[in-house]
Amino acid sequence: MIKLAPSILSADFSNLLSDIKVVEDAGCEYLHIDVMDGHFVPNITIGPPVINALKGKIDMVFDVHLMIENPDKYIEAFSDAGADLIVVHQEACTHLHRTIQSIKALGKKAGVALNPATPIETIKHIIHDIDMVLIMTVNPGFGGQKFIESMIPKIKELKSLCLKENVNIDIQVDGGITPENVKKVVSAGANIIVAGSAIFGSNDIKQTVKLFRENSVV
Ligand code: DX5
Ligand code: ZN
Repeated sequence: MIKLAPSILSADFSNLLSDIKVVEDAGCEYLHIDVMDGHFVPNITIGPPVINALKGKIDMVFDVHLMIENPDKYIEAFSDAGADLIVVHQEACTHLHRTIQSIKALGKKAGVALNPATPIETIKHIIHDIDMVLIMTVNPGFGGQKFIESMIPKIKELKSLCLKENVNIDIQVDGGITPENVKKVVSAGANIIVAGSAIFGSNDIKQTVKLFRENSVV
């Protein structure tokens, strides 16, 4: 059974809470919150105050995807604001193992994201220390981009590594996922599906959520 993580990047920021209520009512489990700093990625979004404002009003897992430089500097602020799962980019962490430990020390779940060009090999030695790997299926920075097909073998490679190492962690995919291609990523091994434009851009969100679930049965 997959878990769905609508990305608020494609929500209407002038009606954020009511847009999120729609995906919560539709049964989506995770709320994917894209944090961008204009340095690690060429776009700027939101920070801890917005997360703090939503906390307590929404009963979903707050999944905070940090696309920022120096994540160590901000982990405590995101934790205090209400993140349940904090995801850092491998490419942004010089001392990735230390960063993961500091997330765990705050009692939060830790995830590591990999850009499309970053090999699975780079997280092999920390795979036992994390709760989730996020495979970026687009280059981070914007919603509504096209899914990169060559990420399918990469998801498979990660799944094989998890089986080999006997670790039961989540595999999240993010970028260009739609009801049409969800089956491919789930067959490859993904179990948490981020979708921004496909969900918030839909005229019938409940129906789209249903389609995501039906089409992901493998
Ligand atoms: C991209 C973000 C994604 C984005 C996904 O940098 O990390 O979470 O919102 O949007 P879609 O699903 O439209 O590709
Ligand atoms: Zn994201």
